[in-house]
Amino acid sequence: MEKLIVKLGSKSYPISIASGLLNSKNIYSPLKSGEYTMIVTNKDIHHLYAKIIKSTLIQMGVKVDEIILPNGEQYKTLDVVNIIFTALLRKNHPRSTTLIALGGGVIGDLTGFAASCYKRGVRFIQIPTSLLSQIDSSIGGKTALNHPLGKNMIGTFYQPISVIIDLNSLKTLPSRQFFSGIAEIIKYGIILDYNFFCWIEKNINYILHCDEKIITYCIRHCCELKAKIIAKDEKETNGERILLNLGHTFGHAIETELGYGFWLHGEAVSAGIVMAAKTAELIGLLNFNDTERIVNLFKKAHLPTKGPAKMHAKDYLAHMIRDKKTEKNKFNLVLPSSIGKAGFYTDINKKIVLQAINQCLL
Ligand SMILES: NC(=O)c1ccc[n+]([C@@H]2O[C@H](COP(=O)([O-])OP(=O)(O)OC[C@H]3O[C@@H](n4cnc5c(N)ncnc54)[C@H](O)[C@@H]3O)[C@@H](O)[C@H]2O)c1
Ligand SMILES: [Zn+2]
Repeated sequence: MEKLIVKLGSKSYPISIASGLLNSKNIYSPLKSGEYTMIVTNKDIHHLYAKIIKSTLIQMGVKVDEIILPNGEQYKTLDVVNIIFTALLRKNHPRSTTLIALGGGVIGDLTGFAASCYKRGVRFIQIPTSLLSQIDSSIGGKTALNHPLGKNMIGTFYQPISVIIDLNSLKTLPSRQFFSGIAEIIKYGIILDYNFFCWIEKNINYILHCDEKIITYCIRHCCELKAKIIAKDEKETNGERILLNLGHTFGHAIETELGYGFWLHGEAVSAGIVMAAKTAELIGLLNFNDTERIVNLFKKAHLPTKGPAKMHAKDYLAHMIRDKKTEKNKFNLVLPSSIGKAGFYTDINKKIVLQAINQCLL
């Protein structure tokens, strides 16, 4: 088993990575006999993985409740969090209870948010089952809900006590979801690690086929990169963590405009990163060859490099103005300056942004 630690002082926690972890009692060691837990999952993941977790916890003497939510990005809402609160209150869960997020990033974001608020904060464990959640969303403690006016606009910073990554769960993940996760893998290479980007280029076919050795290395490396950033900038205050948002300002515009869940998060991020790369190229920050390498790698990963047909450049701007990073009509964007290096650039001219988006329309 591979074990990493997210180093955050008294809030530090382990990330455990291996195949077939879910029936190992050691992995749930923070939980003790007699304690309460609530597994939060969705109807499609419940029948695949909840039973094995439940029976392992019961053998440890842990009390297990579960709540099965509807599946989809459109359910990452305050109303659904309230369903979790109601279930916890009905069963009288104490402040010592632990929520267990079993699923992809949607379940992780919802559960983390609920854990950060229920009785002013209870513990939670992440058991991410999608590629995207294993390499990104389960680590770092960002919780989020969508609002009709903007994606991820409501949220908290709240760290889990443990992240448990069972690689076997990828076997049941639909391929479109798997490819969506690859977008965030490529993102790490672009913002932080030139050698990793080259490694992805070389191994993309093995990654696409979920080759066990390759995907294990890939997940571990992404977790390491993210853990390092979180340790340096837990709450996105000193300029490091913000780099992880590369392409997200554009991508969130796509997700919000089309309706949550129509384009997958990684798909929107893929097109969004290309828009960011084009913006960088237009202001003379990134060279054309690097943009082409980025575009080609997304294409090889079966990811979109253009926005959806029905969106015009002005549709993006309407959403981007509401983005958390945009202030008073000035576009503040994470942009790559070369492959392996990115920065946060402020006050970018609206015309340039429009031009970049226009170059990425179908
Ligand atoms: N908190 C963060 O730091 C952060 C970072 C990146 C993304 N996110 C959020 O994560 C979400 C996207 O996450 P996602 O891509 O995991 O989407 P998701 O949670 O919707 O999961 C994708 C789909 O795959 C299914 N699924 C998941 N694991 C499965 C498995 N093992 N077998 C079969 N089906 C499985 C889910 O039921 C769902 O239908 C977005 O809401 C995004 O905003 C959060
Ligand atoms: Zn993302």
